[in-house]
Amino acid sequence: MEYKIKTIGVLTSGGDAPGMNAAVRAVTRAAIFNNIRVKAIYRGYKGLILGEVKEFTTQDVSNIIQRGGTILKTARSKEFMTKEGRDQAYATIQREEIDAIVAIGGNGTFAGARALSQEYNVPVIGIPGTIDNDLWGTDMTIGYDTAMNTIMDCIDKIKDTASSHERVFFIEVMGRDAGFLALNSAIAAGAEAAIIPERRTQEEQLVSFIGNGFRKSKNSSIVVVSESPETGGAEALAAKLQQLHPEYDVRVSILGHLQRGGSPTAADRILASRLGVAAIQALLEEQRCIMVGIKNDEIVYVPLSKAIAEHKDVHQDKVHALQILAM
Ligand code: F6P
Repeated sequence: MEYKIKTIGVLTSGGDAPGMNAAVRAVTRAAIFNNIRVKAIYRGYKGLILGEVKEFTTQDVSNIIQRGGTILKTARSKEFMTKEGRDQAYATIQREEIDAIVAIGGNGTFAGARALSQEYNVPVIGIPGTIDNDLWGTDMTIGYDTAMNTIMDCIDKIKDTASSHERVFFIEVMGRDAGFLALNSAIAAGAEAAIIPERRTQEEQLVSFIGNGFRKSKNSSIVVVSESPETGGAEALAAKLQQLHPEYDVRVSILGHLQRGGSPTAADRILASRLGVAAIQALLEEQRCIMVGIKNDEIVYVPLSKAIAEHKDVHQDKVHALQILAM
């Protein structure tokens, strides 16, 4: 039986990421281009439960491609994790006559979308939007490139003061248990080491960093640390190094939420625009529970269950390259 999609709902959920607005714009315009109505859902699943819905025209998404954050607002909804909450969300979907949901976000967002698909048979398309880049099945997530560039700029600045004072800096970056931001920004900024959850214990990484003779040829050092219980975080590592080497002048910088802000890079705007259009195309092709992603610069459809469950690893050649280049 043919099931025609007449109206979609679009939402952003979880941590905001630069480029989400470009994705909202692309989803909206691609839908309207295909004679599909668009209902914007505010505050992610929380807004879906509360019925915070507004129909969008193409003008509603004018002049937002360059803006960071998300005009739809975002939230991490605890209520949606309960069956009662999801029943309420489904009631909104029915009341608003929404035939499919396009959900922009990360792992938690996709888990929510899959629940809508499994429990209420709502067609869902996920668009990967998170600075963490930790979603399996896509080479890049929206927001990652911008965050990486922001971190690189911050490290460049910290390097000026680190080298002037001849200090060791531990710089903690985001990533929610994934080392993509730490490893790649460390390479881009010419840091001495990245301590990431994917590789060995933090003690081993710290010992190898010291053992590599980081102070032999250099007067200052930058160590980029992923936020994670696995790494222990920048403060703990700095304390450990200071204990082992009281003679070193050690400082910590935790970059925090500034990593999530700012105008998206060209790469993120283009990625978001392509994925937004692809999400609507996927619905037209009767895809019902997938993530649209990018692999080798081509659009791919990935079952949501796989995007959620599979683990994406950092590239080993990058780990290796960083070690060689930090000599
Ligand atoms: O998932 C994106 C992210 O920025 C993570 O890197 C970080 O761990 C988390 O969100 C922070 O969340 P919050 O904004 O709720 O503090």
